[in-house]
Amino acid sequence: MKNPWFVFPLLFLFFSLNSKLSFGADTISANQFLSGDQTIVSSGGDFELGFFKPGNSSNYYIGMWYGLGLVSEQTPVWVANRETPIRDRFSAELRISDGNLVLFNESQVPIWSTNISSSTGSSSVIAVLEDTGNLVLKDGPNSSTLLWQSLEHPSHTWLPGGKLSLDKRTNRSQLLTSWKNSEDPSPGLYSLELDPNGSNAYLIRWNRSEQYWSSGPWDETARIFAWVPEMRLNYIYNFSFVSNENESYFTYSLYNPAIVSRFIMDVSGQIKQLSWLESSKQWNLFWSQPRQQCEVYAFCGAFGSCSEKGLPFCTCLQGFQPKSQGDWNLTDYSGGCQRKTKLRCEDPTLPNAKEDKFLELPNMVLPVDPQSMSVGSNSECESTCLNSCSCTAYAYDSDGCKIWIGELLNLQQDTSNGETIFIRLAASESSSSSNNKGIIIGATAGLVGLILVVAMLGILIWRRRTIKTPKPTGSSLLAFRYRDLQNATEDFSQTLGEGGFGSVFKGKLPDSSVIAVKQLESSSLGEKPFRMEVNTIGTVQHVNLMRLGGFCCEGTKKFLVYDYMPKGSLDAHLFHEKNSVLDWKTRYQIALGIARGLTYLHEKCEECIINCDMKPENILLDSDLCPKVTDFGLPNLIGREFNKILTTSMKGTRCYLAPEWISGSSITAYADVYSYGMMLFEFVSGRRNSEESDDGKVRFFPTWAAGLVSQDGDVLSLLDPKLKGDAPVEEVSRICKVACWCIQDDETHRPSMRQVVQILERVLDVNLPPIPNSLKCLSNSQSTYSFFVESSSSHSS
Ligand SMILES: *[C@@H]1O[C@H](CO)[C@@H](O)[C@H](O)[C@H]1NC(C)=O
Ligand SMILES: *[C@@H]1O[C@H](CO)[C@@H](O)[C@H](O)[C@H]1NC(C)=O
Ligand SMILES: *[C@@H]1O[C@H](CO)[C@@H](O)[C@H](O)[C@H]1NC(C)=O
Ligand SMILES: *[C@@H]1O[C@H](CO)[C@@H](O)[C@H](O)[C@H]1NC(C)=O
Ligand SMILES: *[C@@H]1O[C@H](CO)[C@@H](O)[C@H](O)[C@H]1NC(C)=O
Ligand SMILES: *[C@@H]1O[C@H](CO)[C@@H](O)[C@H](O)[C@H]1NC(C)=O
Ligand SMILES: *[C@@H]1O[C@H](CO)[C@@H](O)[C@H](O)[C@H]1NC(C)=O
Ligand SMILES: *[C@@H]1O[C@H](CO)[C@@H](O)[C@H](O)[C@H]1NC(C)=O
Ligand SMILES: *[C@@H]1O[C@H](CO)[C@@H](O)[C@H](O)[C@H]1NC(C)=O
Ligand SMILES: *[C@@H]1O[C@H](CO)[C@@H](O)[C@H](O)[C@H]1NC(C)=O
Repeated sequence: MKNPWFVFPLLFLFFSLNSKLSFGADTISANQFLSGDQTIVSSGGDFELGFFKPGNSSNYYIGMWYGLGLVSEQTPVWVANRETPIRDRFSAELRISDGNLVLFNESQVPIWSTNISSSTGSSSVIAVLEDTGNLVLKDGPNSSTLLWQSLEHPSHTWLPGGKLSLDKRTNRSQLLTSWKNSEDPSPGLYSLELDPNGSNAYLIRWNRSEQYWSSGPWDETARIFAWVPEMRLNYIYNFSFVSNENESYFTYSLYNPAIVSRFIMDVSGQIKQLSWLESSKQWNLFWSQPRQQCEVYAFCGAFGSCSEKGLPFCTCLQGFQPKSQGDWNLTDYSGGCQRKTKLRCEDPTLPNAKEDKFLELPNMVLPVDPQSMSVGSNSECESTCLNSCSCTAYAYDSDGCKIWIGELLNLQQDTSNGETIFIRLAASESSSSSNNKGIIIGATAGLVGLILVVAMLGILIWRRRTIKTPKPTGSSLLAFRYRDLQNATEDFSQTLGEGGFGSVFKGKLPDSSVIAVKQLESSSLGEKPFRMEVNTIGTVQHVNLMRLGGFCCEGTKKFLVYDYMPKGSLDAHLFHEKNSVLDWKTRYQIALGIARGLTYLHEKCEECIINCDMKPENILLDSDLCPKVTDFGLPNLIGREFNKILTTSMKGTRCYLAPEWISGSSITAYADVYSYGMMLFEFVSGRRNSEESDDGKVRFFPTWAAGLVSQDGDVLSLLDPKLKGDAPVEEVSRICKVACWCIQDDETHRPSMRQVVQILERVLDVNLPPIPNSLKCLSNSQSTYSFFVESSSSHSS
């Protein structure tokens, strides 16, 4: 044996009453203790328990994680001493003491205990780690009564088989609480629990007070929570809700026990369901709520501003800085921001300080808890705020004057229909941006203008020399230099869109052709394999596929260059009011075009398949509204990170993602068929499948549509109201049937894209496909409408 450490404990076994554990045991019994690097492992090897250290922290905790044979990245699922870490794990001990499992720190002081008051003979009590991820305390190995179990004392993870219950006798609910940050498992501000008032809804609350998300009440007929309609589309989890006179709880298990899945209350304030993908060695996000990060109450703390588009999500308002940069570095923004310079009214000792100023911020979601003032003008509103030292902001609009006292929480920026707020700042903080601007601009305009003209001329001449001749590669692809793209896009100034894989910028080549430049932020591919992949993709030519025109690859700077599509992407036309409505005929042709493009990809181009990140955002329309699928081949270009980005960039909805993405089985072209089917439903309804409809009813559109179609119901009632019923019933019905066929859980039941094309071209007639398992609850319902969950209020409050 190499390691003498190993020998001593074994010798100890014979001489000492309190012995260290033998390697690989699943039990801590009366005379043993766990210390240092020692662990216990459940009998099947699924879970392991011992001391661990989160991230770069120097603190140690007793925790439970997946057996490294099951999940190769240490992932804690339960922590004992969340608030009482220890530094030296070799002199701390976890052992049975007076019938409890107790953790003793370096000075042998108990700092954590299972805390049961046991009157039984404590000598036979043992702690056993089970393969379900449950650490149980029982009186002897054969005892069937559990004195204590870790599943009933969850920390931030809710494992399959666990329950999060409400004790009706005491009205106490069990909590799932977030970690404080990624390196500190002590309870953070966010928690999930069953409503103590007995509404049978799970609530997420901030600091155990402000509720910002609710699952809606459990609906036993539909077997879903009212505001989580996507629970229907599930074949992975077996859910049940139990309510008796003593308690109510929800629990879940996995139909396929080989899938490793966990539910967490994340430090982001969102609940998340994740599953382990061994092929890519990472946790994949399956589902999360609230969908938008900025919906999490006070996520950016006081005077922080949240933006869905920004990374990081939180920034401090101008004139403020993070209270604790260290916490912000660990993505814990809850501490918020503080003023860089005190307000004059707070610090009257300052000589000659100027009157405080207001910084104007347009397009903001206003903070919580405003106070209404009855004053008649913007300037009166301003002076009302100025007159009270504790007033930190005001807003004035048609509703009148609102002011805010004290900290500003839940400010959110970048919303197109936001409002304008005025933030109070010390004069010195606001002057730099607004006061002197006019003078400076006036004084320098001429000079700047001159410089600009000269510079433009220079750039033009230079561009002519440089950009015009990108190197043609083997195929017809152009290889751009980074500098060329920088110039063409005016230093990446005009963004066309942002996806999980990177941003897209508009640019113009010297020959006036307009291009779209897609930056691949997370490609881990080396230069040579990248070029090879790009060349393969460059050979793909079809009228319904976006042609790759060129690329750039300089170190980590990787870009794809396409023709610019003036009509933009399909989602803008389907879901956003401001664009003209796509009539039914156009939608049908678009559906057919996409199907043709995918057929080509799947059949003609075996080598380069190519699953797409298929969603309306990735369908571009040319000037004739001819659809072009883009982003195909990305998995090969991105490499290892692809899965992770794809699943996390869904922002909580996995609506377009086929179930095999989650279960970790291999992905084939049929995953595209699934996503395509999901999109077809959206062509019909004109809104996202996961969205609440205008009448306030929460329903999962595919389920509704499947029900109507299978019962020969009024399919036109499914139609996008913007179309005013103007569509042939036969075609709407045909599209819905195809869509149902495409979204079946089992990929072997889905049609090929070629079959889809034939059906849409009416070459093949389609009989009603078998109703997908996930939609089955419909077939035994008397009325489709019983599956709609009425809700008059919004999802969260
Ligand atoms: C630990 O710190 C190093 C360097 O400071 C950093 O690169 C690494 O990402 C950190 N690890 C974690 C898990 O935060
Ligand atoms: C052990 O815990 C006790 C009580 O919390 C504390 O006073 C003592 O300093 C701790 N010992 C060490 C070495 O941290
Ligand atoms: C155990 O009980 C004591 C006293 O009732 C309490 O202070 C302590 O926090 C409890 N520990 C745990 C882990 O619940
Ligand atoms: C527990 O049960 C097993 C078999 O059922 C038996 O062999 C063993 O002696 C029992 N142990 C105790 C402590 O009763
Ligand atoms: C429970 O009900 C009380 C009284 O109706 C109310 O004040 C409280 O906010 C409710 N709590 C929750 C979590 O809904
Ligand atoms: C628990 O809450 C319910 C509903 O709010 C109430 O009727 C009941 O009296 C409460 N019970 C206790 C023990 O507080
Ligand atoms: C959370 O609530 C407690 C009182 O229940 C309060 O003392 C504390 O300041 C609150 N925390 C934050 C971050 O506001
Ligand atoms: C689903 O869960 C329930 C209770 O948790 C269990 O009785 C049932 O056997 C499970 N069904 C399947 C198919 O695993
Ligand atoms: C509720 O608790 C009582 C007393 O602990 C017990 O007798 C009864 O069986 C429990 N009911 C259920 C449904 O578990
Ligand atoms: C936070 O991160 C920045 C940049 O990564 C670093 O310069 C700074 O020292 C960090 N601050 C703290 C307090 O950790």
